[in-house]
Amino acid sequence: FFNDSQPQPLQGKKIMITAGPTREAIDPVRYLSNHSSGKMGYAIAHAAQALGANVTLVSGPVSLSTPDKVKRVDVNSAEDMLNAVMSDIDHQDIFIGCAAVADYKVEQVATDKIKKSAEHMQLRLARNPDILATVASLDNKPFTVGFAAETSNVIEYAQGKLERKNLDMIAANDVAIQGQGFNADNNALHVLWSGGQHNLPTATKTELARQLLQLIIERMDNDEN
Ligand code: CTP
Ligand code: CA
Repeated sequence: FFNDSQPQPLQGKKIMITAGPTREAIDPVRYLSNHSSGKMGYAIAHAAQALGANVTLVSGPVSLSTPDKVKRVDVNSAEDMLNAVMSDIDHQDIFIGCAAVADYKVEQVATDKIKKSAEHMQLRLARNPDILATVASLDNKPFTVGFAAETSNVIEYAQGKLERKNLDMIAANDVAIQGQGFNADNNALHVLWSGGQHNLPTATKTELARQLLQLIIERMDNDEN
């Protein structure tokens, strides 16, 4: 029952993590999505559980097995993900938005399979809700951590997201670097918060997950004092 080999700094803490891509339906057989594998979010869920937390993993479609003793809620679209998050956000101590949420959904999902005809076709898209920003705007919000996937001006864009979304911390990764970020086993993160930052150099997502949680624990302890 008890894991004596590791200290349990997240004992009694509730943490919710979003992971993986979302799928935005075009018609009954097609969707828009992205290359997120879910590996980073699942690694965080696993590491948080090992540190004693009660973990809820809200997951888009991925081909990963559920970490031991983690409560997993499966969703498809960004709207489904928002609903799943909001239905259980009360009493969460930490929220980590690791999912690669589609920024846009198809405005009018076709009820029948779309037939090809003209040489060109257009899909009109509408903005999806921002799940992370919605959580961060709650009264009594959990310690809220975002990710920022960037291909240029990594720190500058991430800093902007930290401030605009009212986050407690953001972990930025450069997804333009080969073998890092989307669908890779390794990653490197620049972690920023108001008044500080920390570089987590290239490592496995398992190792980075532990290091990121360590930074979160330090910041939360700091805020309490
Ligand atoms: N995010 C979210 N809901 C969305 C879009 C993003 O919760 N609809 C979260 C992601 O899970 C991530 C963070 O917001 O933690 C940043 O995502 P990112 O795509 O890097 O930033 P955006 O704010 O969507 O801005 P842009 O894609 O224009 O860079
Ligand atoms: Ca985005």
